[in-house]
Parts: sequence; C-alpha cells; structure tokens
Amino acid sequence: MTKAKQITNICCIGAGYVGGPTMAVIAQKCPYIKVTVVDVNEQRIADWNDTDLNKLPIYEPGLADVVAEARGRNLFFSTDVDEAINEAQMIFISVNTPTKTYGVGKGMAADLKYIELCARQIAKVSKDDKIIVEKSTLPVRTAEALSTILNSTGNGVNFDILSSPEFLAEGTAISDLHKPDRILIGGEETEKGQDAIEALVAVYENWVPRENIITTRVWSSELSKLTANAFLAQRVSSINAISALCEKTGADVDEISRAIGADSRIGAKFLKASVGFGGSCFQKDILNLVYLCRQFNLPEVADYWEQVIKMNDYQKHRFAKNIIDSLFNTVSGKKIAFLGWAFKKDTNDTRESAAIYVADELLQDRAEIHIYDPKVTEEQIFSDLKSVCHPEGSEATKDLLKNVIIHTDPYSAMQSAHAIAILTEWDEFKTYNWQKVYEEMLKPAFVFDGRNIVDKKQLTEIGFEVYNIGKGLN
Ligand code: UDX
Ligand code: UDX
Repeated sequence: MTKAKQITNICCIGAGYVGGPTMAVIAQKCPYIKVTVVDVNEQRIADWNDTDLNKLPIYEPGLADVVAEARGRNLFFSTDVDEAINEAQMIFISVNTPTKTYGVGKGMAADLKYIELCARQIAKVSKDDKIIVEKSTLPVRTAEALSTILNSTGNGVNFDILSSPEFLAEGTAISDLHKPDRILIGGEETEKGQDAIEALVAVYENWVPRENIITTRVWSSELSKLTANAFLAQRVSSINAISALCEKTGADVDEISRAIGADSRIGAKFLKASVGFGGSCFQKDILNLVYLCRQFNLPEVADYWEQVIKMNDYQKHRFAKNIIDSLFNTVSGKKIAFLGWAFKKDTNDTRESAAIYVADELLQDRAEIHIYDPKVTEEQIFSDLKSVCHPEGSEATKDLLKNVIIHTDPYSAMQSAHAIAILTEWDEFKTYNWQKVYEEMLKPAFVFDGRNIVDKKQLTEIGFEVYNIGKGLN
C-alpha cells in the first residue's frame, strides 16, 4: 500500500447542524488542517462569522467555545464554494437530504438533488485529485451515483469516494464529536480506496483512538447509518407502544424501562417514553429505508420498519386526543400552554418536533395555544405551523394561527391557562414555582407531561390533575 496522503486542506459543503459542529471540532483537534465550511445560504455564513458568538446559527452546548478557539486560525466560513473546493484535498458533503416532496418516491425517498448539485460543482471546478466524503445520510449505493457524475468529466482528475456518516445527536453534538463511540469510514476495497480511507483515519486519529475507528466497504457504511437510526427510533416506538398498555393497566412505563434496561442485552438508553420522537433524521431515514426495501421487492421488511413511524404518529395523536378528551371533549376557546417546542432539549432545532403535530390537532379543535421555548424563535414556530396547518396559506390557516401566542416568559404563557402541555424535556421546566403556576391557572388545572419530567406527586399534592405518558390509573 502506498503511504496515505496527509490532509492539510479540507472543505465542507453545508454549514448546517452536521457540517458546522463537525468541522469546528475537526479544526479544533487538527490545527495543521485548514478547514473551510461553505454554504449557499449567505445569512447562515454571516451568522457563523458573527463576532457575537450568541448569534451562531445553531444552539449547541459547548459549540461557541470550539468556534472561538478555531475560527480565524484554521476554521473559516465562506460562500465562495468554488475556491474552497479547488483548494481542498478532501471535501465533505454535508448538505441536507430531505424526503422527496414530488414525483417518484414522493413522501418516502431521499431527495438527492443537493447531493447531485454538489457532485456536479466539484466535477466542474476541480483541477487536481480529491477525496470526497459523504457526511450526509444517504441511501445505500449513492456513492456509486456520485462516482459516475464525478468521473465522467474526462479531465483526468481522480476522485475517491468515502462514506463517513455522522452519528452525533443534537444537544450533545460537541461531546459526541469529542468522544465518539465510533467513527465509521467506508471505502472501496481497491488500493486507492484503502489509501483514501487511511487519509481520513489519520485526520480522526488526532483525537479518536484507532480501535474506535471502524473501516468497512462503502455500502455497509451507508446502510449502517440508516440502520442505526432505524434501531434507535424503533426502541422509542417500542417503549411508546408499551406506554399505551401501561395507561390501561396501571403499570408504570418508567419502572419498566428501568427493569428491562438493566438487562445488559437490552441496555438502558433510548427507552424513555415520550410524546413521540422528532428531529430531522429518524422519520426521514426510516422512510428512506422503507422505500429502498420496496424498490428491492422486500415488502415484509418495508412494512416492518414502516410500523415504527406509524407507532410514532399514533403516540403524537394519542397525546393530543387525551388533552381534548380530558378537557371535557373540546379545547375550543381554551388556553393551552405549551412548554417546549424543540424536538428535544438543548437545541433550537424544531424539525419534525412532536409539538408541531400536537399543536396542529389542538388548533383544528380551535384551542388557543400559548407557547414558551427557551431557545426557539417566534419566527421559527410560525414557519413550522404554516407547514402543517392546511390548507397552506388559506384564510382558514390564517384564522387558526391567530390563536397562537408566543411568550418569552413561561409564567405569562401559563397564566390563566386551562392546561399545560410539556412537549420538550428542558431542565428548567423542573425548577418552576409550580405552586405559583397553580394559583394563577384556571381550575381544574391540568398538566399533560409528554416527557415525564415533572414531579407528579408534588404537582398532585399542589392540586394539579397530572397526566403522564405511560402512568395511568393512579
Ligand atoms: C444533516 C445531514 O447532513 C443529513 O444527511 C441528515 O440526514 C440530516 O442532517 P443538517 O446539517 O441537519 O443535515 O441540515 P441543514 O442544517 O439543513 O444544513 C444543510 C446546509 O447545506 C444548509 O445550510 C444549506 O444551505 C446547505 N446547502 C444545501 C448548500 O450549501 N448547498 C446546497 O446545494 C444545498
Ligand atoms: C439522531 C441519532 O441519535 C444520531 O445518532 C443521528 O446522527 C441523528 O439522529 P437526533 O435526532 O439529533 O439524533 O437526537 P436523538 O437524541 O436521537 O433524539 C431523537 C428523538 O427521539 C427526540 O425527539 C427525542 O426526544 C426522542 N427520544 C430519544 C425519545 O423520545 N426517547 C428516548 O429514549 C430517546
């Protein structure tokens, strides 16, 4: 094997939730590598370059410190995509891969148009050999399509394609990047492919022990990412399915999670029953997996995974319906306070958040919703609601949205409310003065805890009617 080329210049296309934090940490840990993150979105790049670190486009604990350390030293954010591509020896592709909203595979397949655009741009601009790293989550065998586009320019430039999916979770991205359970790198089995793998291994070896870096063939790496997300989501749907049974039988889902999680074969993580999983990845990646299975004529496999999504939809619906049922079969004109809008704590990301779907159901029943989230902006909340409240842009939607009020103070959101719904597990919700909240609410004062985070006993003693996920009959 020839000696792997030492990488000193990296470009990353896509300055989003994955590209931004991942590149910031690579730059922090590898001061000898110039890392340039490019994006077509000028505002996003301006925000990454803002001297006020509170204005970074992504809220992620610890991110500002990493950016402060590396930015301007060897970490750069730019809109000059061509120049960054041209200079780089290694190019990461971290653009978004949303579910297709049109044509073949609509509502299921991953839309690869941005990936393809990147490949075409790289092919057009490159004057010397490059290693291309797929960071975005992609359907298995996308590397083949990338390779076809890249290698059909006929200008003699050689491209090696690696798949290195990112497993960071939002809210803990920086610690996940600093101490990953594993780094996965897939490449071709040829000597050239193995050299490319080693070049990327050498980057990660600056801070990740070699035994935690797994190398595989490309297809396994691509499919591992979809499989990991499908397994994680499946655990959440499995425990949520049990939560419904708990509510009918008087068992306590948190006790069950503890009991089964103590079995080392099962493990304790991802067994927290909730109002339903959200985030940009789980649903999209499972739909993508389901689509792939159908394409390869494996309907039983497709149906098996699709059920994970159906269960999640059921959980969100069950939560909303329970609010309506408990409030005497209608929420029309009633004030419901939402604590949390993000899809999980410690992030300002709201993509596919359960809160959006619960709000939609309550708005259709004419509720007045007062929302407080520590990190999500008013603009974002309205944009999310517009995308689900149908028909889009109609007078009816506008009327519904008049019933949504955003608060920057949680107590004003809860004042005079008929009910409180907890949608995100932000730590601060546990510390509120619940006695004061109770006194200022209408009675009976309901709390629907979609995350099982507040102290049910304490709240019940104060006088609240508390509904938890998976804790009925007591
Ligand atoms: C990521 C992953 O990359 C994706 O595969 C995963 O499945 C979801 O999460 P994420 O970083 O969260 O995507 O997406 P996003 O925050 O939307 O960032 C993508 C960025 O790419 C955006 O800033 C967008 O402007 C940029 N982009 C997109 C380009 O610069 N060029 C394009 O052609 C398309
Ligand atoms: C996920 C994967 O964890 C990560 O490896 C991948 O790279 C991207 O997708 P992310 O979506 O950022 O990460 O967050 P995650 O912590 O996985 O949570 C996803 C959703 O599941 C959240 O809405 C969360 O609240 C919910 N969840 C998680 C539960 O309801 N119960 C649990 O026990 C765990």
